[in-house]
Amino acid sequence: MTQITFIDHTGSATTVDAPDGWSLMQAATANGVDGIVGECGGSCACATCHCYLGEELLALLPAAGDNELGMLENVVAERRSGSRLACQVKVSPALAGAQIRLPECQE
Ligand code: FES
Repeated sequence: MTQITFIDHTGSATTVDAPDGWSLMQAATANGVDGIVGECGGSCACATCHCYLGEELLALLPAAGDNELGMLENVVAERRSGSRLACQVKVSPALAGAQIRLPECQE
């Protein structure tokens, strides 16, 4: 289990214990975190799991693949340099204590 904190656009934070190997999207939706929808169930086909990662987190992760980059073209909220799709980011001990910011809207 790895502790991850999701922070919504109002600054409200929810910390969850996420099983390693799950995606950030699974960790958020399984714990009722508002702000991530995950409409396609994690198959990189809806862009409703958009989130913002800090530079320090991005440096720990594999770069986004072509599918993810393509879907990031379709996010509803502002796309930023730290934009990722939460279904494509796996929870691992390297993310312990990570703070994941969520956009104001997903759809
Ligand atoms: S859950 Fe659909 S793209 Fe991530």
